[in-house]
Formats: sequence, C-alpha cells, structure tokens
Amino acid sequence: MSKSFPVSDRVAKMHSSSTLKAAQLAASLRDEGHDVIDLTVGEPDFDTPEFIKKYAWEGLEKGLTKYTSSAGMKPLTHSISTFYEQQFGATFSPSEVAAACGGKQALFNAACTLLNPGDDVLIPKPYWVTFPEIATFCGANSVFIETEATNFVLTADQVRDAITDKTKLLIINSPNNPTGRVIPVAEMRKIVETCAERGVYVLTDECYLFFAYPPGEVFTSAVLPKELRDFVCVAGSFSKTYAMTGWRIGYTIANESWTKAMVKLQSHSATHPTSFVQYACARALENREETVAAVDHMFKEYERRRDWLIPALNTIDGFKVGMPEGAFYAFVDVREMLGSRFKTSKDIADSMLTKAHVVVTDGAGFGADGFLRLSYATSMENLHTAVTRMGELFETAVHAA
Ligand SMILES: Cc1ncc(COP(=O)(O)O)c(C=O)c1O
Repeated sequence: MSKSFPVSDRVAKMHSSSTLKAAQLAASLRDEGHDVIDLTVGEPDFDTPEFIKKYAWEGLEKGLTKYTSSAGMKPLTHSISTFYEQQFGATFSPSEVAAACGGKQALFNAACTLLNPGDDVLIPKPYWVTFPEIATFCGANSVFIETEATNFVLTADQVRDAITDKTKLLIINSPNNPTGRVIPVAEMRKIVETCAERGVYVLTDECYLFFAYPPGEVFTSAVLPKELRDFVCVAGSFSKTYAMTGWRIGYTIANESWTKAMVKLQSHSATHPTSFVQYACARALENREETVAAVDHMFKEYERRRDWLIPALNTIDGFKVGMPEGAFYAFVDVREMLGSRFKTSKDIADSMLTKAHVVVTDGAGFGADGFLRLSYATSMENLHTAVTRMGELFETAVHAA
C-alpha cells in the first residue's frame, strides 16, 4: 500500500476554492445530461474581442515564441503605464509594472514578497475566496473586518479600528466579488491614508476595474500620490475586463523595490506570462479607443442584465438583494428562509441544485453564511429560466421556515 503523500503544512492548511468546486459540480451535472443553469461562474460569457485575438496571431507571426524578461516584455509594461496615464491620469514608470500569469498570480507575488510568518493580514468580510488562502500560504494570519453594518462597504474607520502592531497588509477588492459593492473614491483614499500612517501596506485587487456603475465611478489606486502609492500594490488583470480569462495575464503596479522583489520571485516560478499573449495585450492597450469601446459594449450588456435580474430576484419569497454597484454578481441575503426546512444557505444552494438544476455559490466560502452569490455573466435567457425555476421552488419557503 502506498504511503499517503506528506503535503506541506502550509498547503495542507489551505482550502480548495469553493467557487471552482461549485462550477465543477455544474459541469458534471451537465455531463450527465441535466439541463443545468450555471450561475457560479466568475467569467465573462463573451468571447475575447476579435482584434485582440488577431494581435496574438500577429505576435506568433513575428516569432514571439521565446522567453521574455520576468517583469514582462517592455512593450507591455510601457503600454500599461501609458494606458493608465491616458485613461485615468495616473503617472508611474514602466519599471513599477510587472506582468504576471493572471490577477491571481499578481496577488500571490505581492503577498509572498511582503508577508512573514506571524504577520496579520486584514481582510474585509465577505471576501474573495483566495485572499485568506494566500495569507495562509505565507504563514500569516487572516484578521477579518466585519462590514455588514456599513452595507458591505469597507470604511477607513473600520480599518483604523482593526490595525494593530502586528498588521502588515490590508487586502481590498473594489468593485467587489462577491458583494458587487464599490468603495467610494474619497473613502478609498482615506483607507490608504489610514494604512500608510500606520506603515500598513495595501494590496488592492482591481480585476473588476472597469465594471463600476455609473462608469464615472471607475477608480484605480494607481492615481494616488507617490507617498501613498509607496504603500500600495495594484493587482490588475485582463481576465474579466477584456474577456480573456483563459489567456492568463495580469500585472502589478507597485513601487520599484516591491516590483523588483516580485520579479525575483516570479523568475523562479512562472518566469513570465506567455510571450505572444503579452504582445497581444500590449497592442490592445495601445489601441485604447477600440479596446475601451469593446469593454463598454460588454459592460452595457452586464448592466442590462443587472437591471432586469435584481428586481426579479427580489420577487422571490425569502430573497433580498441590493443593486450591485459593480462587477457582475448578485449577493442574495437568504437568512429569512433559514429555519426548519433549511438550516444553512448551503442547504438552500443544494436544494436549488438538486430540485431546480440552478447552480449558485453558497456565501459560506466568502465568509458570509446566509447569502448566495449569483453571477450574471450569463445570457438573459439563462437568467430568465433560473429566476422562473427558483421562483417555483421557493414559492412557500418563507412560510415553511
Ligand atoms: C476578486 C478576484 N480577484 C482575482 C481574480 C483572479 O482572476 P485572474 O487570475 O483570472 O486574473 C478573480 C477571479 O475570479 C476575482 O474574482
């Protein structure tokens, strides 16, 4: 008999991604022939814009099939810096940019180069599933900040109250997955100021950067003045914004010392993201007009779905959901339904899965038992069918509780 594999302590302490588990469940039910509506996926249902695909092909034709610098090829780091300047008025040097294999690796690079075992990491609740796992991997402690009292929008006062001498890092994500909430620009600035005053670093996950309603609210911490930006690492991603999840490309914007450390780390792990993908992204950002128009087109469709979905969900007995201000998730409060029929939101999600073949993600994985996350990055037709099925299933749920 083979001995069980001695997984390292740090990895053994990590949990598998609950969102990926739910998506896999949906896929296996579909494979069994069930007519499943999958509302778990945090992935645009749009294809990558055609002109970006062409740029990747152009990169291949140019022979860009070899290693690049670990920080990413110059045209990419330069185009990120120029794009942010033209689009947002942010001024930082290309040497403060490093390419990574997706936003997830950008976050890992940032955290692993800052955290030591025993450090405290502040993580607002509800959180994206990966944040506490990154802290665990680094041997650091996740310290959660409750935000329900402020409608799931983190405030500088909450951050100030949570900071101790052990606090090294705050991880934020706005527009937020799973809540769809957006931290107002002035509050965001105050949060960073509060951290900087206490020598606490801020890792800001901006993977839904462009997906904020109204579009005027789009904000990146890259525009903060240098003395504040010295405490900030922006983790960016092409995945959601440009419908490029499978291309695996993201980036960090941080001061030069932090960037150098991340590049050193990456030079011993992934080395760099795929060469011709980097080229395609550089060309896409250089073609800012067409790229921003493509994003706008997708975002308008998300908005149309949101405007239909949220009022429709609120007609279902026991569902309560506020209007998301960004990203593409509805975060549904189902606590009113808990009682004798359903003990937890997971029971509700399981019932939806087995009886209605609608797959959603239970809030517990985001630190929010009693909530469900529904992604509206799927067709209107799917959303209509899902709402009809859920309505039929839960018609009597509140009264039976
Ligand atoms: C909040 C958040 N951050 C980061 C990511 C990672 O995206 P990627 O690694 O594809 O860039 C996701 C993906 O679901 C996300 O929702």
